[in-house]
Order: sequence, then structure tokens, then C-alpha cells
Amino acid sequence: MTEPVNRTPLIAGNWKMNTTLESGVALAKNILEGVAAIDAGFSTPGWEIAFYPPATSLALVADLCAGFDACDVLVGAQNMHAEDSGAFTGEISAEMVLSCGAGSVLLGHSERRHVFNETDAEIGAKVKAAVDAAITPVLCVGEKLEERDADKTMEVVAHQLEAGIEGLTEAEQLKTVIVAYEPVWAIGTGRTASPAQAQEVHGFLRKELGKAFEKRGGKAEDRETIRILYGGSVKPDNASELLGETDIDGALVGGASLDAQSFLGICEGSN
Ligand code: 13P
Repeated sequence: MTEPVNRTPLIAGNWKMNTTLESGVALAKNILEGVAAIDAGFSTPGWEIAFYPPATSLALVADLCAGFDACDVLVGAQNMHAEDSGAFTGEISAEMVLSCGAGSVLLGHSERRHVFNETDAEIGAKVKAAVDAAITPVLCVGEKLEERDADKTMEVVAHQLEAGIEGLTEAEQLKTVIVAYEPVWAIGTGRTASPAQAQEVHGFLRKELGKAFEKRGGKAEDRETIRILYGGSVKPDNASELLGETDIDGALVGGASLDAQSFLGICEGSN
């Protein structure tokens, strides 16, 4: 038996195409103030937070979070291109993300996959570009409702995971990845996976990560170092039950991350 690794819960807000420069900075400020107030009280935050604002406010939000010391804060982009530069109108590169002071990026979000038709190969190339640039990728995977109904959930997420990390040839590179399981049918629908349903997939993904580490010359136990976040209608009233599951190491929150009180409520639920 391997010793369980203590993975610090990460509560991440994906703001999607919401917030202006002003309202985004105000939202981040309110959340940071709330975290600082918790830190000044009796309980030290036992979690880390992350913000994924629109690219237009990435630099300002990153600047606001730099030096915040009540808990670790990761700031990241919602997407980026795999190429360094060039004729890719509308896209941003790893270097641009870094130049904003950000250190992370969401990749393969279901909206990128299913609304913008991003392919596994494109997502894999982006994950590699992020890791090469020392940007922490959050690789999102998740099945559609018809895939769950056809008992294809594990097959779909295993394939998305494998394709997403294909370009990472070293175990050390794989250690830098965060995975997010977001069942498509639970995103923005108010319908959450039950803690047991989510745990089943998270446990499976962790086993797959074990195989991926071995394939790269690492140890299967290295899978215990990887944080696997759950996303899909996470709210203050369901967060603690979900985060109580062994392999759920945090939340990737959409709608409820746009309100400081509900985001803080989710953070408190993760203790
Ligand atoms: P909701 O929390 O709004 O369901 O969105 C989840 C999500 O897509 C986070 O990336």
C-alpha cells in the first residue's frame, strides 16, 4: 500500500466570457479580501485558489494577486495557442500568458472542444507548449450525456487524457499537469455529478495517470501527486460533499465563481 499524499485542494474560478476589466478586478479583490479575512480569523485557509479571467484582464488580475500571502493564488488564461507566434489572428501564445504575470492555462475545456471544435491533437500540442513554457496546464476532460448513457464515460475520458498528455515524454513533465474532470452534462446545467459518480471517474483517471507515469519511466505512485479537480455546477452547498471524496482534489467553478460570496463558500466547503 502506498501512503496517501496530502494534496492541497485547489478551488479555481473559470470566469469564461464574463467580467470587464473593472468588474473582474473588483471580483478578484473581493475574493482576496474574503480569503484574507478567513486567514486573519481562527482558520488558516487549507486550500489554494485560482482565477481564469478573460485574456483582456489577465495582466491586471495577475498583478493584483502577486504578493498575496494568505494563500497561494494561481492566475491563468482560459486558452492559448500551441505556436510561439505568427499569423493566428485572435490567439494568444504561452509567452504572452507569461508576460501578463500569469502561470497557468485551461486547456481542452468542453466549450473549446464542443463549441470551437478543438481536436485532441490540438489540445495535446497546447499542453506540451504550456509545459515547455513552465505554465501549469489544467487539462479538462469529460463525457457528453449520450456518451455516459452509452456507458462510454471511461473510454472517452481515458482517450482525452492520453491524447492531452501525449507530447509529454518525461514523468517530471507529467507531474506539472492538473487534470479537471468536467462531465459536459453537468456544466452550467445545475445538474451535478453525485459525489460517487465523480469519485468513480476521478479514481479511474488516477489509475490511468499511474499507467502514464510508468510509460514515461516514472512510478505508478506518482499519480498520487496529481490534483484532479471536479467541475460542473459546483456550488457552496454541494462543494464539501464532492471535495470529501478521496480523489477529488478541488473544483473548477464556472457560474458560482462570478460571485465572491459563493466562491468563498466553495473554498470553505473544501476544508
Ligand atoms: P459551471 O460551474 O457553471 O457548471 O461551469 C463549470 C465549468 O465549465 C468550469 O470550467
